[in-house]
Formats: sequence, C-alpha cells, structure tokens
Amino acid sequence: MCGIVGFVGEDENALPFLLEGLQRLEYRGYDSAGVAVVQENHLTVEKRQGKLQRLVEALTTTSVRGSCGIGHTRWATHGRPTDQNAHPQLDCHGQIAVVHNGIIENYQTLKAELMARGHHFRSETDTEVIPHLLEEYGGLDDLKTAVERAEARLTGAYAFLAISATHPDQIVAVRRSSPLVVGLGERTNYLASDFTAFLRHTRRAVVLDNGDLAVIRPWSVEIHDANGVAVERPVLHIDWTLDQAERGGYPHFMLKEIMEQPEAWADCLLGRIERGRVVEEALGLTAEELKAIRRVVMVAAGTAYHAGLVGRVLVESLAGIPVEVDVASEFRYRRPLLEPGTLVVAISQSGETADTLASVSLAKEMGLKVWAVTNTVGSTLAREADTVGYTYAGPEIAVASTKAYTTQILLLTLFAIALAQAQGRAYPELAEQVLSLPEAGKSVLSAMQGLHGLGQELAQHRDVFFIGRGLDWALAQEGQLKLKEISYLHAEAYAAGELKHGTLALIEEGVPVIAILTQPELADKAISNVLEVKARGARVWAVVSANLSGVPADRLIPIPATAPLLAPVLAAIPLQLLAYWTAVSRGEDVDQPRNLAKSVTVE
Ligand code: G6P
Repeated sequence: MCGIVGFVGEDENALPFLLEGLQRLEYRGYDSAGVAVVQENHLTVEKRQGKLQRLVEALTTTSVRGSCGIGHTRWATHGRPTDQNAHPQLDCHGQIAVVHNGIIENYQTLKAELMARGHHFRSETDTEVIPHLLEEYGGLDDLKTAVERAEARLTGAYAFLAISATHPDQIVAVRRSSPLVVGLGERTNYLASDFTAFLRHTRRAVVLDNGDLAVIRPWSVEIHDANGVAVERPVLHIDWTLDQAERGGYPHFMLKEIMEQPEAWADCLLGRIERGRVVEEALGLTAEELKAIRRVVMVAAGTAYHAGLVGRVLVESLAGIPVEVDVASEFRYRRPLLEPGTLVVAISQSGETADTLASVSLAKEMGLKVWAVTNTVGSTLAREADTVGYTYAGPEIAVASTKAYTTQILLLTLFAIALAQAQGRAYPELAEQVLSLPEAGKSVLSAMQGLHGLGQELAQHRDVFFIGRGLDWALAQEGQLKLKEISYLHAEAYAAGELKHGTLALIEEGVPVIAILTQPELADKAISNVLEVKARGARVWAVVSANLSGVPADRLIPIPATAPLLAPVLAAIPLQLLAYWTAVSRGEDVDQPRNLAKSVTVE
C-alpha cells in the first residue's frame, strides 16, 4: 500500500499541493517519498528515502514551480526503500514519470523484454516497467494512447498516474483494483489514493471504477471504462472531517484495518498460486530448498507467534514435516537444539522486534537457513534473513495487529502447500479454495454487524475464557490476546480438553466463554466441552463454521463453510471485531492501548 497524488491546474501550485497531499497520505506508507513536476517542458524530479520530511527539506531550497505534477509516499514491496527505488520512476530520458500503488505481477518478463530493446533501468521496482513501456509506445507524443497500450501488457492489482514533459496540462490515471479518486476543483483537478489528500481544497469527488482510465486536465475529467468506452461517474460530496478521512471514514485505524482484510489477502495471494500450485519463488523459496527441509522451527512474538501456532498445524497436516513454534524471547535463551535440515521461520509484522532478531542471529550462528515472514520491506529482519516472504498487508497503524496476522497465516498456508508440493503431494483444490478467501472474508465482514451488541455485553464482565481444539485453540489464543490488549479485560485461552484439569473451577454462573468450532473432525469433542461449561453456568458464544450443526451455544456467530484448514483467517474476523466493540464500549483508546507499543525494538 502506497499513497499517490496528482495536481493539474491553471496556476503553478502543483508542488505545495503535492507535499500537503503526501503528508495526509503518509499513513499509507512512509519509507520514501518523491514528486515530479512539469516545468517549462521539462520534468523536475525529487525523491528521498525516509520520512516525507526529508523530501520537504530537500525542496525548501529549490524553486520548483509548475501547474502539473505527481507525488508518491512509499511502502516498499518490490525493492528496498532507497532513493533510487522511490517513486516517481522515469523512462530512459527522464521525460515520462509514473507513480504507482500496487503490484505489477509480470514485471520481470516485461523488464527483460524492455532491457533487450535497449531500455536502461535504474531501480529494483516493478513500477519502472511502466514509464519504459510508455516511452516504447510513444508516450511523448500521445500519452493517453501509450497508457492504453501499456496497460494492456500489465497484470496485477494497481493504480498509477503518468505525466510527461510534453504534456504540461494532463495526467493520465489508471485504476485496476487499487483505490484512486479524483477531486474536482475550480480550474484545478486532483488525483489521490483517497479523499484525505485533497479535502482541504475540494469536497467534490469522483471515485474511479476498476478498469477505468482517466485523462485529467485543469478544466476536464475524461473517463473511459475497461472497454475503452467514455463514461460519466457520479460526483460525490464528501462531508468527512480530515481526521475521519485519514481513517477511511472509520472511527479507528483498527476497524479500518479489520475491514481492509479481504483486500490485504488478495494482495498477499497475488501471483502466488497458479493452476492449483503454489509458485515457490513467489514465497522467496525454491523447490530445491523446500525439498531439503526436514524440520521447521518458527520464532516470533505476540500476534505473530499466534500466527506461527496456526502455521504449525498447517505444515504438519499438509506436509507431514515436524514443526516447533517458540516465543522469540524464550528461544534465544534456551539453547535450542537445532540440527542441519532445519528451516527457521521468523515471523514479524514490523521486522524490527528485538527478540525475534536475536533469535535469527542465533539461528544463523548455528549455520541454519532463515526464512522471514514480514510485512516490512527493508526492515532489519528482511535484511538479516536468508530469504523473505512478504505479507503485503500494507502499513498497520493500530497497535493491535489484525490484517498482518491474517496475512501471516495466509502466507504460512502457502508455505505448507509448497512444502507438500516439494514432496510430490500437490493440493490443487485447497490452493484454489485459498483464492476464494478474499470473497469469503467480505461476506464475513458484512454479516458481523450484530457483534456491536455482544461487545457491549462483554464489556460488563471481568473475566472471559476462549476455548477451542486444534486450529481453533491456536486461534483462541489470538482471540484472548486481542480482547486483553485493547479492552483490558482479563482473558484466557484454553485447549478445550484441558478445562477439566483446572480452569473449570473458575466457571460460574454468567461467566462468558467464547468457543471456536470450525474443525468437523473435532466437533463432537468440542461440543462436549461447550456442554461442560454450560453445565457450570457459563454463557457461551460460539464462532462456528456454517457446515457444523448442533452446537449448543447461547449465541452462534456463523462463518462461511470452507476447507477446515482455511477456517482460521475467516474465524479471526469475529474475534477481532468482538475485541474492538468491547474496547469501544468501555471507552478505551483502541488504537493506542496503555503500556503497549506497535513495535518492540528493545528486549
Ligand atoms: C508488539 C505489538 C504486537 C505484535 C508484536 C510482535 O507487542 O503490539 O501487535 O504482534 O509486537 O511484533 P512484530 O512486528 O514482530 O510482528
């Protein structure tokens, strides 16, 4: 997820607008930023690795004036955060500039083709193929036609803006899956990843549809749909405050990030499953490397550790390879016994957690290979690990992790299938079902309105118990952490079969128990555990897969039926929302809970 902005007007205010717009979009990415402005038939380009402020400082001594320009704030996906990889990306002669959000899946093939035709590439990004394609297709003469032709060559989910030195009064914009909106001003028009960037200037906006190509001039907005037919899109009046707009209209980043999960899952899966097989290289591993793995050790902290607990069940079930999961702060001090043939999987949203990094150093000292699962390109973990699989969830701002967690599970699911493939066992049906999860996620989200009331109810209690078996137990552990960290209620997760060895003593009249039942194989046993707690007076709310019946709960929270191994990502959503609504009911600071930090870079 990156932020893109564009300005085309009759006065020369492009630069101040671009910098202001980027500042509003900084929440979408902040590892580097850049702008390109057309000035007297010449492109002035400035970009800097690091926070936007570095770019602003670099521009204070320049006198860039222009009435057409584009800007970008980056959250790296392809290529580390460096000046060269920052956007805008340019053609060979620096006359066409492009800013881009999303992923161009087939960039390697296109890059090889363009290089063979003599194009000179300067970055490691997927984006750079676009300006070179535009150059190839005559973008300096007719930018719109060149964009149409280039777009026909691209696969992936993205949005981009293109300008050229020879078109000082137009921006050509394309939207395919990634968001893009147009702001309609007085003899000035704006483009941005979301309304926040231009709300201070105009509240009239047009949301581009998937497949739209738009030519924006100071006095006109021309839109063509995916079939090239000229279309009119409705003009909306946006009455959000700036603060609301930054959170996509949601009251908290956590809720926004919960709602973004289907999109994050689609980004995470993009280009990773083809014809029923996981593409090993798209995980950062080769089939040979996978074949050599005899044992897997996962290390992580917090929510990422809980993703590892799910990953263990997936890898052991699908690939039949033994897995250990360890909390990084324990692993690093327990002198682990690691033999050759072990792959260490380090899972971390930020890629900066001190204990996880120390575990990686230890594993490397022992001569083991480390595969990182992280959301942050250019993080210390991504640099220290031998190889990396990115989760592509986009920046996560709320301290309580949601979309990073479910994308970690997705990536571990693909890893488990890839490991099985390496041993000659493919799971084509399962791989295809993985691709349907973003759609299933959308239907879970739209069915969860009622959780608001359950959150209010839960907020009245002091202790909450989460129970489950197998994968559901792994998920229960994340459910209790979510609730605990933002609502400050006391919550515990138990393997449902362990209740009778102690915890059952704590169950009394009215105590809330959240039961998770998504695994048909274990359903009968889990139902007995529900009956056990109910017999002691517990009030049971059950998150249940739609294909399981006869769960004797006080309240059922159904999720769509899917392959049991894929249920955790869907079942995670109601647990996240339950925690969210409980914390809101209690009036707690949802995005920044007391005593906690997003990234723990100290021991
Ligand atoms: C902190 C955060 C958690 C996160 C954990 C691990 O405790 O508050 O949300 O799960 O660190 O962070 P990482 O970036 O390594 O995934």
